[in-house]
Amino acid sequence: MLRCDVITLFPEMVTPVLESSMLKRAREKGLLEVNVHNLRDFTVDKHRVADDIPYGGGAGMVMKAEPILRAVEEIRRPYEQTGETVRILFPSPQGRPFSQAYAHDLAADRRRLLILCGHYEGVDERVRLALNPEEVSVGDYILTGGELPALILIDAASRLMPGVLGDPSSIVEESFAEPLLEYPHYTRPAEVRGLAVPDVLLSGHHEVIRRWRRREALRITYHKRPDLLKDRQLTIEDQQMLDDIIREGVPGAPVPCGEER
Ligand SMILES: C[S@@+](CC[C@H](N)C(=O)[O-])C[C@H]1O[C@@H](n2cnc3c(N)ncnc32)[C@H](O)[C@@H]1O
Repeated sequence: MLRCDVITLFPEMVTPVLESSMLKRAREKGLLEVNVHNLRDFTVDKHRVADDIPYGGGAGMVMKAEPILRAVEEIRRPYEQTGETVRILFPSPQGRPFSQAYAHDLAADRRRLLILCGHYEGVDERVRLALNPEEVSVGDYILTGGELPALILIDAASRLMPGVLGDPSSIVEESFAEPLLEYPHYTRPAEVRGLAVPDVLLSGHHEVIRRWRRREALRITYHKRPDLLKDRQLTIEDQQMLDDIIREGVPGAPVPCGEER
């Protein structure tokens, strides 16, 4: 079971996602537990203030350290009393890039995940100094808050928990399970606006379908993310398919002057 606590100023950004689709089902099946805590509940003043202007001036508001530190202490105290340990994650554009391997690492961890969502200009630096959280980035861009990254972490990790997905083979086959993008999918009807399903998928011949999917995965990776194939040890079958894909070139691409297709 994946156990998480999320500390946020905006619980309403987080809970609807947890109440939808696969995450809802995972929670109902007892495979995922997420407690969403409103940071304002850990303030002590009448107005429940959790942010303030930055020292030194500048735009935006900074989240105060004390309510976050208090929240972390109060949330983790009962867990630690029962011997559970807590892994503190802080979504931050300065963090380690999130990836499928990172998601596997979270899913395999027996510790509870405690996710601190920053917002506004960010969080008072003393939170980082006091807690030394694990900073994790969901990409080289700036979001308004850590709520979407928190959901990304929970979503990616929880679907790796045994029993969350109906068919566990999806995890093995999908993009990044191995560093290869996934083959294309088709569903009924067999023809949509003149576009037909590749015949091979209607053949019922499992080995031919497997080979077609493998080649498509290699072809898509070669064209969209060639970096994933760099320095990669390929099987003989994969290498033969890749050589063939390279010979084939990009379908529809203009033929360079003086070359024959
Ligand atoms: C507007 S951002 C603060 C950005 C900060 N002023 C900076 O320039 O690095 C507010 C919060 O959103 C979260 N956040 C924004 N972008 C993120 C990203 N790419 N990955 C993870 N968390 C992010 C962090 O929790 C951050 O504290």
